[in-house]
Amino acid sequence: MDEKKQYNTFAKEYSDSFLTYNTNSIDVYFRYLDLDLEGKKALDLGCGDGYDLSELKKKGAHIFGMDASKEMVVLAQQKNPEGTIKVGLIDNIPFPDQTFDVVVSKWAFQAEPSIEPIYKEITRVLKPGGTLIYLTSHPIRQFIEKKQNGKDYFKNETVKSVFFEGKISETGTSHTFNEYFSPAFFSNFTLEKYEEGLDHGAEKINGDTYPSYFIVQARLKG
Ligand SMILES: C[S@@+](CC[C@H](N)C(=O)[O-])C[C@H]1O[C@@H](n2cnc3c(N)ncnc32)[C@H](O)[C@@H]1O
Repeated sequence: MDEKKQYNTFAKEYSDSFLTYNTNSIDVYFRYLDLDLEGKKALDLGCGDGYDLSELKKKGAHIFGMDASKEMVVLAQQKNPEGTIKVGLIDNIPFPDQTFDVVVSKWAFQAEPSIEPIYKEITRVLKPGGTLIYLTSHPIRQFIEKKQNGKDYFKNETVKSVFFEGKISETGTSHTFNEYFSPAFFSNFTLEKYEEGLDHGAEKINGDTYPSYFIVQARLKG
């Protein structure tokens, strides 16, 4: 299976369920999105069914979205007929250089094999001084999702993330904070805000309580 397109298989299932299970991450993310977006150009990477694009639109932004899943793009375009929404990959964003005032992404980076190419592309499409907000799977969660004994936090490995009471299994690559807060990040961005939290829709492995996501707000230098 092409992992980048895995959401084609469960686009509707995800769209029907996330509002029930992701209440915590949605609240936190929408608090981060509470910016002055009037007349601003905002791009959502891995926009899914376009729910977050509708929130950006309510705030007066001109909305742009992209997703690897064609099924998701169809749902997002139905919800947001005025938006420009394309099929595309986060590490090869189908928009020109220095187009956006704001780039956002929720629950999409965790499936990527590597984080650095994503930063490279965001640096290209954001205007200097532009804002990046992203929320993604917490490295501790991905470590716990490694099933073998003698787990190695530092090794990029395929992990299966089970959520929404087992309705969805997403295949992704484990990441470390070294990758998220790397020289590629700090040479291009200024970190403005950071937070971690827990959605009740995440699988509770071994009865442990641990963060399911973290969220970042950063500004492109220049
Ligand atoms: C968990 S869903 C999140 C959807 C939406 N952002 C939300 O928070 O409800 C992950 C989305 O990211 C998309 N995605 C995953 N990898 C991607 C990639 N490399 N490029 C673009 N989209 C990707 C998937 O197709 C899916 O729609």
